[in-house]
Order: sequence, then C-alpha cells, then structure tokens
Amino acid sequence: MEYIEFGKHKTKVSKVVLGLMRIPSLDNSKIAELLECALENGINIVDLADCYSKGVAESKFGEVLKDNPSLKDKFFIQSKCGIRIGEKFTYYDFSKDYILKCVDASLKRMQVDHLDSLLLHRPDALMEADEVAEAFNILKEQGKVINFGVSNMNSQQIEYLSCALDQEICANQVQLSICHTPMLDAQFNVNMSNNRAIMREGGILEYCKMKKIVVQAWSVMQYGFFEGVFIGSDKYPKLNEVLNKIASENGVTPTAVAIAFVLRIPNQMQAVIGTTNINRVIESSKACDFKLTKEQWYELYLAAGNILP
Ligand SMILES: NC(=O)c1ccc[n+]([C@@H]2O[C@H](COP(=O)([O-])OP(=O)(O)OC[C@H]3O[C@@H](n4cnc5c(N)ncnc54)[C@H](OP(=O)(O)O)[C@@H]3O)[C@@H](O)[C@H]2O)c1
Repeated sequence: MEYIEFGKHKTKVSKVVLGLMRIPSLDNSKIAELLECALENGINIVDLADCYSKGVAESKFGEVLKDNPSLKDKFFIQSKCGIRIGEKFTYYDFSKDYILKCVDASLKRMQVDHLDSLLLHRPDALMEADEVAEAFNILKEQGKVINFGVSNMNSQQIEYLSCALDQEICANQVQLSICHTPMLDAQFNVNMSNNRAIMREGGILEYCKMKKIVVQAWSVMQYGFFEGVFIGSDKYPKLNEVLNKIASENGVTPTAVAIAFVLRIPNQMQAVIGTTNINRVIESSKACDFKLTKEQWYELYLAAGNILP
C-alpha cells in the first residue's frame, strides 16, 4: 500500500480508501470482517456520507466500532453532508444550520467525537460561502471536524468557497474510472469541435494539482452513473482483454489494474472502492504494488472506447 499526506496535520492515509456506501446490505459481523481485512491490507481510511441509506451506513459502522474495540481509532474517518433527503424529494443544502445539524447527527450515529474529514457532498447552487465558513469555523472550534473538503465540485466552486473559508480545502471527491473520463477527455481534445472537448468540470485535475488538493475518485469500477461494473462486462470486451493482459503481466487481478489506472494520474490521488467483498478488498490493495507504464495507461484508455485526436 502507498500513503499520501492529508490535510493540515499531514496525516498518512492510504491511496485506496474503503467506501462504505454499500455496507447496509451486510450484517455487522461481515462489516467487521471487511474493516479488519482493509486494515490488514494497509487501508486506513473509510468514506461515508450521512445520506447513505438514510444514515444506516454510518449507524452500522458505529455499532461495529463499538462492538469491536480492536477497530476503534484505527481508521481515518471521512463523511459527507449536504444531500438533504426530504419527505417529498432530495435536494442540496449547504446552509450553516443544516451543516451543523448533519455533523452532530453523523457523530451520534457513528458514536465518535470527531470526523477526520468532512466533505460537502454535491454543490448547492444556493450556497453562500460566508455561511459555509461560519459552519466550518464552529465545527473546527468545537473539535468536531479536523479537515474539510468538497465533492463533485469544479474549480470555480472551490475557488469561490476558498475565498471565504479560514480552512484549506483538502480534498475533492469526483467520479472517475477507466469508463468515466470526461476530465481526461477534455484534456486531450482542447480546442476541438467534438463533444469530448467540452470541459464539463472546469479543469478540476489541473486546479487540484496547483492547489495541492487531494482528488478522490469514486465508482472506480463503474461505467455510466451506477450503470454497472465494467470488469467482466460484455459491453467492454476489448477493455477486459487489456485489463486481463496487464493484470497477468503484473501478477495482480483486473480489479487492481482498474484502480491503478486512476492512481497513475499525477495528482495526489486516492481511489474510493465500494466493494463489500473481502477478496476484492485484498485485490484492490495490490493496486499500489506496481505502476502502469504510460503505454499501458493509454492502452487502457483507448480500450474503453475512447479516441485520441
Ligand atoms: N461523492 C460522491 O458523490 C460519491 C458517489 C458514489 C459513491 N461514493 C463513494 O465511493 C464509494 C465507492 O462507490 P461504488 O460503490 O459505486 O464503487 P465501485 O467500487 O465502483 O462499485 C462497487 C460495486 O461494484 C461491485 N464490484 C466491485 N469490483 C468488482 C469486480 N471486480 N467485479 C464485479 N463486481 C465488482 C461491488 O460488488 P461487491 O460488493 O460484491 O464486490 C459493488 O457492488 C462509495 O462507497 C462511497 O464511499 C461517493
């Protein structure tokens, strides 16, 4: 496993992050096994959100920590807030009171006294940076949150927030996989008239590199918006052929290669995996044991059906 330095205290966190969005499907003993397996394989950071199964993911994580004292204090705990599941519909809310309320509820559910990292989950077009700043200052002063970050934001949104915040934005969590590459497509097609040239995210990779913001890739195994897993999918025969070839060249599985594709991007990168299967956690942890060559990286990009100008 490899580690990066995260936030003001330069905490060492693993490049592979265990995402816990899907743990509500597991019973608590299986969750404990998953967490133990992650630790044994060098993964020391978990990612949650208050909205995952309406708080059930956080509650289950909290119960498992309580019942398994050996797991307590071993993980860097990150959660997210701002997706508000209302009675009639879901919307986004970065108002001060709502952020404060969400963090209190997350801490209570997880039975912990602080979050190592809090991300604002999805941009609220009605957000007011001064209000977010007030909320962050209170959370910092109260010791409830150590580091702050965002998710699914473009460079201008981060810049706007940063102007008001007293804390640095440490991370931006965005969708990125071999089969979801708008951020890369735009880099290859600058000034072209095709659709790949459309910059949908405002140069977020370059911006995060300049500002030393960690980029956390989510859904590293999926194509589309939760449409399915590309590994083993008959929608991607060429990609699977290349994944298998590179996997056998490096003595790992295609899962590790898919994660290595994301980690090869020269940002401070992390890959947030969402598996609930311990064998896949072990496979994923091998993604740092080798480095894709440039040729292999481009071969994967092209095998997913992309073209270069
Ligand atoms: N910031 C955001 O907006 C946002 C959005 C979505 C997710 N996230 C975070 O990102 C994490 C990961 O998201 P995700 O769960 O969509 O990621 P993912 O790792 O791409 O997908 C996990 C799903 O794919 C299956 N899978 C994984 N590897 C596989 C393989 N090699 N072959 C077949 N199936 C495989 C898993 O099944 P098994 O469980 O059976 O392995 C699981 O159902 C979440 O837990 C959450 O923390 C953040």
